[in-house]
Amino acid sequence: MTEHTVSKQIPNLLLVASGKGGVGKTWFSITLAQAFAQMGKKVLLFDGDLGLANVDIQLGLMPKNDLNTVLTSRCTMEEAIVEYEPGNLHILAGRSGGGQLASLSPQRLAFLREELRRLAPQYDLVLVDLGAGVGGTVRGLSETGRECLVVLNDEPTALTDAYAFIKVMRKRIPSMHHQIVVNWVENEVHGKQAYQTIQKSCETFLKFSPPLAGYIRKDSRVKDAIRAQACFLTRYPNAPCS
Ligand SMILES: Nc1ncnc2c1ncn2[C@@H]1O[C@H](COP(=O)(O)OP(=O)(O)OP(=O)(O)O)[C@@H](O)[C@H]1O
Ligand SMILES: [Mg+2]
Repeated sequence: MTEHTVSKQIPNLLLVASGKGGVGKTWFSITLAQAFAQMGKKVLLFDGDLGLANVDIQLGLMPKNDLNTVLTSRCTMEEAIVEYEPGNLHILAGRSGGGQLASLSPQRLAFLREELRRLAPQYDLVLVDLGAGVGGTVRGLSETGRECLVVLNDEPTALTDAYAFIKVMRKRIPSMHHQIVVNWVENEVHGKQAYQTIQKSCETFLKFSPPLAGYIRKDSRVKDAIRAQACFLTRYPNAPCS
């Protein structure tokens, strides 16, 4: 890692990542973005899962423009931004389903990073919901962030894949700070156990201990809210997850 990489990092940008897919990154990113917006922060939620974008689906948006229209030079980033909650919560949607953006050239990834850097000063926080794994797009977009929340659940595959993600990213970008979010757990004990497992692996093999950002309980209302294409905090403000 070079000083050059550090200088590419956007100070108010937060990455949400995982190794394994389907652990709740997108739901968590949307919910966290809304929580910050409710605290009066101006937030841009960027759907970084470019090939299989889901933010728009989970929120029931049908944006006229999205990152695909931006990347094919048919609109600007500003024209693709949806004001989900006017003023506070803005969304830059990917293109769901089509897979057109599944693998972007280094030039296009560099363009997206530059555009994020240009937009970031207009927001208190830019949240990037990354795709699963450590593919080229995840690695390319990760260069924008210093802070990274790694979401996992208490399944062994989620734990090993989250560890693999951290290992690869620390090698590429040692200045990145990883924190652990244990999602979808039965209770606090299970959440702590899952955290301790990944913490021990990181300590033993990578010689560092990622802090626990928090854990979130399993709740069937998460699926309900997604099915209804509604924000969880709006629909279930008093649920333990909220
Ligand atoms: N705390 C939770 N309690 C119950 N179910 C949950 C919880 N978190 C996530 N889920 C379930 O997990 C599913 C996947 O969530 P989501 O699409 O946000 O995951 P993801 O990590 O973004 O997946 P992908 O890697 O495919 O992008 C949701 O449809 C929801 O049913
Ligand atoms: Mg997702």
